[in-house]
Amino acid sequence: MSEIIGVIYGGYSNEREVSLKSGEAIFNSLIKSGYKAVLIDLKRPDDLGDWSFLKQLIDNRVGSVIIAIHGTPGEDGILQGFLELSGIRYSGSSLIAAALSMDKSLAKLIFQKRGIPTPEFVTVERGYVSDSFYWKRYPAVIKPACEGSSVGVIFVDDSKKLEQAVDEMLLIYDKIIIEEMIAGDEITVGFMNDRPLPIIKIVPKSGFYDYKNKYTKDATEYIVPAPLEKSVAENVSKEAARAVKAMGVSGISRVDIILRHNKPYILEVNSIPGMTETSLLPKAADSAGYDFDSLCRWIAEDASKKPNSTHKTC
Ligand SMILES: Nc1ncnc2c1ncn2[C@@H]1O[C@H](COP(=O)(O)OP(=O)(O)OP(=O)(O)O)[C@@H](O)[C@H]1O
Ligand SMILES: [Mg+2]
Repeated sequence: MSEIIGVIYGGYSNEREVSLKSGEAIFNSLIKSGYKAVLIDLKRPDDLGDWSFLKQLIDNRVGSVIIAIHGTPGEDGILQGFLELSGIRYSGSSLIAAALSMDKSLAKLIFQKRGIPTPEFVTVERGYVSDSFYWKRYPAVIKPACEGSSVGVIFVDDSKKLEQAVDEMLLIYDKIIIEEMIAGDEITVGFMNDRPLPIIKIVPKSGFYDYKNKYTKDATEYIVPAPLEKSVAENVSKEAARAVKAMGVSGISRVDIILRHNKPYILEVNSIPGMTETSLLPKAADSAGYDFDSLCRWIAEDASKKPNSTHKTC
């Protein structure tokens, strides 16, 4: 309890605004619980190569770090690598688990290989011959391989719109995926290490669970625990746990799923789930008896138990 916790927040992806909110919420909660903590904004790609960033951690005598950056460089392994080299303990997933789960095209290959149900997909990379010519399943979803908060998610219902959307997306992103659209109920399963939390059913009042519906108050209804038959809920939690294991993520994480005819299709595993007081994972934890402050204490204790540095990825 006496060491100083650095909450590193912000980052420089499209999810910066959300990350600032997650970091602030965690920091305020830790202070409320009596921890000594410091909030550090990682704003620019250059920061990690700049001595003054590491100096901030050293000057503040930071003993462990809670990573509160969605997207790059907190959810994709970059910050984890920096902290490994600096010999500073950090919360949650290792470099490799973060990098793997951030890249949906790699993550889904592993799900497929392990028989974990996930929508059919192909990967399209800028500069390579596109598999999208052979895509036949409509409606389809096109999304960046490495994004979050539904940024760049597009639904198309024919090949002409698909080709157009693929061309437009490749102007912005190096790698995208085309995925079979699953019409069903949206659910999510949070984890505290390998322990699944109660399932949340997500019901946007209109449209799909896009950026606006994620972050606008009252735009979406959340039902926790999700009203599912016991056997269905058990199977959902089991498949979600297999996805978590396949990615190797630890600490808090969240598995996003579409349930069609009671069969779960895993969309992705988030290694740095949203941590504002109204985010999904805190809702699920609350339903399991961890209010926001006790969840933040759990994360801090979990981080402080980590080895200083492993200097290995496997
Ligand atoms: N294959 C699909 N079928 C149906 N809906 C989908 C599909 N893929 C994505 N969606 C919709 O788009 C949303 C965002 O997709 P996904 O979770 O893959 O992306 P993300 O941007 O990484 O999300 P997050 O905010 O969780 O990081 C989903 O919550 C869902 O509403
Ligand atoms: Mg998602």
